[in-house]
Amino acid sequence: MSVLDLTQPRAWIAEATGVAVLTGAGISAESGIPTFRGPGGLWNNYKPEDLASPEAFVRDPRLVWEWYNWRRELVSKASPNAAHDALVKLEIKKRIYTLITQNVDGLHDRAGSGKILRLHGDIWRLRCTACGANWPDRPVPLPKLPPHCQCGGVARPNVVWFGEPLPDGMMKEAEHAVESAPVLLVIGTSANVYPAASLIPFAKQSGAKVIEINTDDTAYTDHVDCALRGPAGELLPALLA
Ligand code: OAD
Repeated sequence: MSVLDLTQPRAWIAEATGVAVLTGAGISAESGIPTFRGPGGLWNNYKPEDLASPEAFVRDPRLVWEWYNWRRELVSKASPNAAHDALVKLEIKKRIYTLITQNVDGLHDRAGSGKILRLHGDIWRLRCTACGANWPDRPVPLPKLPPHCQCGGVARPNVVWFGEPLPDGMMKEAEHAVESAPVLLVIGTSANVYPAASLIPFAKQSGAKVIEINTDDTAYTDHVDCALRGPAGELLPALLA
């Protein structure tokens, strides 16, 4: 069903003991952060294999870092929007709650969300390619590209690139969160990237009601219980009011 009547999805959320949430780049669009696909999407102008793959980093770490440096700069000037804020309020209301995000921008953290599973990592952390050390890192712009670890090794953004597995145990934790919640809210993701997108059919199999919020149709629109069309910054506060 595709509706703009919020009565039914509101009732599902109100009655649910727990809610799991899966977010993607679309939730940060109204903060001015470009999405990856669709109009204005980053992957219209850049190739993921040139900028977001381990091979690209080995080939040209400086180029990859220039791109991440630019994205960090963009995010540092942005603020969480009404959709990020609405999720913080939802977390306070629900006993069982997990926010699963594919975003690396840190806007959920800045809004004040507590329990966050960052499936694709965090651009505000670096990881050493030599010793594996992992640390928070905020300077914008970075003073030297590529940055280095104290051990002398080259540091990379602590994010998941194409062809890389998710952090150990992360997907199991996300699946556990989804099967523990009678409602899954799917916000601003094209649901093209796996394994994250598999949480949607997984929720259906677990018997959850799945509510999608997106400005456009997605790979799973026909399979969800309710597809709400519109910007997350408007729809989510209205849905959760
Ligand atoms: P995409 O860029 O694939 O999808 C963004 C989705 O947000 C699209 O379905 C848009 O229609 C929707 N959208 C845009 N503006 C919106 C708004 N204001 N409100 C609601 N929806 C809106 O982003 P993701 O699905 O998050 O991975 O992409 C998944 C992964 O692909 C990313 O984490 C990244 C990327 O390559 C890695 O870097 C590993």
